[in-house]
Amino acid sequence: MKAIVIAEGIYRLGVNLDATHLFEGMWPMPDGISINSYVVQGEKTALIDLVEDIDDKPVEFEQELNSIPLRAQDIDYLVINHMEPDHTGWLPEFYSKNPNIEIYITEKGAAMLKAFCGIEENVHVVKTGDTLDLGGNKELVFYEIPNLHWPETMATYERNSGILFSCDAFGSYGSITDTLFDDQLSSDQHNFFMNEALRYYANIISNFSMFVEKAISKLKTLDIKMIAPSHGLIWRENPQEIIDTYSRFAGYLKGPAEAEVTLIWSSMYGNTQKVVNAMVEGVRSEGIPIHIHRVPNDHIGFILASAMKSSGIILGMPTYEYKMFPPMAWTLDMFGRKKIWNKKVLRFGSFGWSGGAQQELEQLTEKLKWTFVDPVEWQGAPSEDVVKQAALQAKKLAQSLKQ
Ligand code: FEO
Repeated sequence: MKAIVIAEGIYRLGVNLDATHLFEGMWPMPDGISINSYVVQGEKTALIDLVEDIDDKPVEFEQELNSIPLRAQDIDYLVINHMEPDHTGWLPEFYSKNPNIEIYITEKGAAMLKAFCGIEENVHVVKTGDTLDLGGNKELVFYEIPNLHWPETMATYERNSGILFSCDAFGSYGSITDTLFDDQLSSDQHNFFMNEALRYYANIISNFSMFVEKAISKLKTLDIKMIAPSHGLIWRENPQEIIDTYSRFAGYLKGPAEAEVTLIWSSMYGNTQKVVNAMVEGVRSEGIPIHIHRVPNDHIGFILASAMKSSGIILGMPTYEYKMFPPMAWTLDMFGRKKIWNKKVLRFGSFGWSGGAQQELEQLTEKLKWTFVDPVEWQGAPSEDVVKQAALQAKKLAQSLKQ
């Protein structure tokens, strides 16, 4: 692979992690993810972010650097927007090749740089509005965007080209192969990357949605001509689209989200499963789209994306030893961590000798600000009346999403 020119004197270097990897060690990526870095060349040369030290990715990275042509020791300045090891894993080796490099990073980033890599020399701590003039009509301006994704994160803006190197912000899953820019996408590819952005956001960013809104507000004053994130597409035709998309995602957590339902179900011996179809039909009878997941079979990474986007959630779970079915309890614990807030929720499920799941559900989700529709519960196998009642309650939930 070669570095790709994205503006005069500005290059994108990128590698793809494939589906064999779990992002952050836990999130599946069936279509991989790209890790993007950027070179800005004026009279001096800056490298913005690095690459994970995994497989042969540093070798690929160096080959791209060589294609400019540059070597590690030719870089004058290293800008570290974010210390997470997907962008800094290769830093110790890079640093050994270029020990005199000047590093630009936020104050919290500098502490992490010391902790992760033991680097303290030639470190310049920057704040919002600080600049680095590269000469040759290239000037970098730094903007702290805390918690996008870690507290030390910043974005870097190149003033002359109007390119915002936004790091994790405005990123997505999905490998980059033949299409790097938003204006190169077919309609299917566009939909693909929008879905990849949704899942990435739900997995990685949603806990920090309040900070997404703050960052967007802070960056609003900039004349952004291109958004070049550290994962996913470069937005050069319509950078506002990905900004608006992130703004919409952040809004999902305040509610209402989309008029859609996510149904998550689990079953021990099939008695809760027997009511799933009635729930689905009840929702569909109102023309409301429904996303269906089973736990523990489906991965939480996919469930979170559906649930974040949906205003309505239906949970099918039996009572298990006076409490929620444990895989569902774990799922809802993740909902708490990722702030899947302000949803309209209906639960259904069977019990053997005593209920208890509904009570635990309401207690555990108190902080999520959920509104509950009356549950559908029964002992043992569901009767015809139970199935009818389930369809009615699902219909009622679906109707409420249209209001
Ligand atoms: Fe792409 Fe938070 O690292």
